[in-house]
Amino acid sequence: MIAAGKNYQREADDIAALIRQRQPTADSLLDVACGTGLHLSHFRNSFAHVEGLELADPMRKAAITRLAGITVHAGDMSDFRLTRTFSAVTCLFSAIGYTRSVDELNQTIACLAAHLEPGGVLVLEPWFTPNQWISGPVDTGTAADGQRHVTRMCVSQQTGTTSTMTMHYLLGDTGTGIRHWTEEHTLTLFTDEQYLHAIQQAGLSDVEWLPGWRDQRPRIAAIKHRPG
Ligand SMILES: C[S@@+](CC[C@H](N)C(=O)[O-])C[C@H]1O[C@@H](n2cnc3c(N)ncnc32)[C@H](O)[C@@H]1O
Repeated sequence: MIAAGKNYQREADDIAALIRQRQPTADSLLDVACGTGLHLSHFRNSFAHVEGLELADPMRKAAITRLAGITVHAGDMSDFRLTRTFSAVTCLFSAIGYTRSVDELNQTIACLAAHLEPGGVLVLEPWFTPNQWISGPVDTGTAADGQRHVTRMCVSQQTGTTSTMTMHYLLGDTGTGIRHWTEEHTLTLFTDEQYLHAIQQAGLSDVEWLPGWRDQRPRIAAIKHRPG
């Protein structure tokens, strides 16, 4: 089931191209907070070796089912250590916003950077900044896969630099009927300066803000330069 407004193939192709522009020989990629593995299902066509990392077990299991032959590690993006490094590390669709404080953001970016080879490329899709964020409007979205239809309505609020989204889901499934549930997601509104500081503190440079998959959803790219 694909979220409306997202084209994972186009996003993965765009991100692979931006990585290759900065590291033409890039041949491996780690997607951190990879969800159900939709980007990885396309990245595997652009890189000889890809892996994922995901905290939530149901998401990770869905990714493993989708991605035969690809390792999807269980782990927390703020504190994980794999046995290898990669030409590129990605953290997409604002997953980085799940970090709860500036300290945790710094620790997470340091952890992502530690998994880059010299010359490697970090690609982040940040959450909204405090200036961009507007609480209140109800956001709606739908997705379908033929047999199932999901409608999501989301209402948001802000407390300090914390944004909270309450999501209401209606799932219509041919055969089993209609189910309703809610989920609450809390993401931190970091400033561009806080992202920049975390990336530079992790030893990366050439930091760029690039157009992303939707208005006001930029991508950040940065390089881990070879020592000396
Ligand atoms: C908005 S989804 C994005 C999923 C995927 N990157 C995509 O683009 O479809 C955010 C993901 O981050 C995961 N996540 C949240 N906190 C995490 C953490 N501390 N470590 C690893 N994954 C985390 C969630 O379980 C969820 O799968």
